[in-house]
Amino acid sequence: MVIQHDNPLLSHDEVGILLSAAATAPSMHNTQPWRFEVTGSVVDVLLDEDRTLPAEDPSGRMTRIGLGAAAFNLRVSAAMLGYDTTLAIDPDPDRPDIAVRIFLGARHPSRNSPLGALYSQLRRRRTYRGPLATTDVPSTVLDQITSAARCEGGELRWLDAAARYKLGQTLQAADVLELHDEDRLTERGRWVGGDRAHEGVPSAALGPLPTKPAAVRDLSAGYADPARDSAAFETDPLIAVLTTAVDDQVGWTRAGMALQHSLLIATSYDVVVSFLNQAIEYSALRPQVQDLVGHGAWPQLVLRAGYPAESAAETPRRSWHDTLDVWQ
Ligand SMILES: Cc1cc2nc3c(=O)[nH]c(=O)nc-3n(C[C@H](O)[C@H](O)[C@H](O)COP(=O)(O)O)c2cc1C
Repeated sequence: MVIQHDNPLLSHDEVGILLSAAATAPSMHNTQPWRFEVTGSVVDVLLDEDRTLPAEDPSGRMTRIGLGAAAFNLRVSAAMLGYDTTLAIDPDPDRPDIAVRIFLGARHPSRNSPLGALYSQLRRRRTYRGPLATTDVPSTVLDQITSAARCEGGELRWLDAAARYKLGQTLQAADVLELHDEDRLTERGRWVGGDRAHEGVPSAALGPLPTKPAAVRDLSAGYADPARDSAAFETDPLIAVLTTAVDDQVGWTRAGMALQHSLLIATSYDVVVSFLNQAIEYSALRPQVQDLVGHGAWPQLVLRAGYPAESAAETPRRSWHDTLDVWQ
């Protein structure tokens, strides 16, 4: 880490608040693929090449989504501290490792903003992999979750029953591919299962195994774990596909921001979400998901939503000190 600051614009506490908030973002397999550089009042979110998933995410799409989510959290925590923010995606052609640059503007310490209010949801949000309760989510709540994604340039498309049925078949095909994908299973061993102190998905967060086939992704990919219970899952959950208009690094970063904004709004209504991304990760199956949402819309994530029937386990994070590369 390079630290040179005789007269820093941000205090040590403020940098800690911003980076700790960023770290609560979701990331595939909880790799936390981010590093940060703070220069005056500019915070850069950078890709950490040592935390990518070459087998499961060869294009880097999922990694970028994680970076977008972390950047959104930075904006939320900056707003909670009273700062105005603006941002640029891929701001410097000479530094392609910088995914998002966030500019902190004037500070209004006593201002309450809707963005800053989401700060209270950051540590309440968790990926939920258990069964859902049967209570319906009101349409007014779904509308707010959908609007939150739209604010960041994403679109949440809630699937009707026929589309959910077709998606179920695609998910089953993806699960079969995954069970025989040695490279993926090996990579997963690095990040998933067991006890985890700072990164990865511990066994306790994998959720129960479904007693019958269900719309839930088992990250253990078939490996038996005696610590896991089994449970009956709902038969037909709410499912949305998060899409963007473009399918490049900028689109993926926007998808991450849209994801995180909608997850924080969902959390504020106690609605939980899990990810059914296996069908998007296989390029041979992704067109089947695209058929469900219409061409011109690029599917980035598949989300299952509802009220939880159980509590969700916490996943660990690295200390913010370990993610700060430069502060000057
Ligand atoms: C782009 C992306 C893809 C993900 N894909 C999956 C997935 O397919 N299955 C799953 O169970 N969780 C998935 N997750 C959730 C992560 O495993 C989770 O965010 C991480 O373990 C941290 O846990 P938390 O969300 O509870 O904080 C994904 C998260 C992101 C951001």
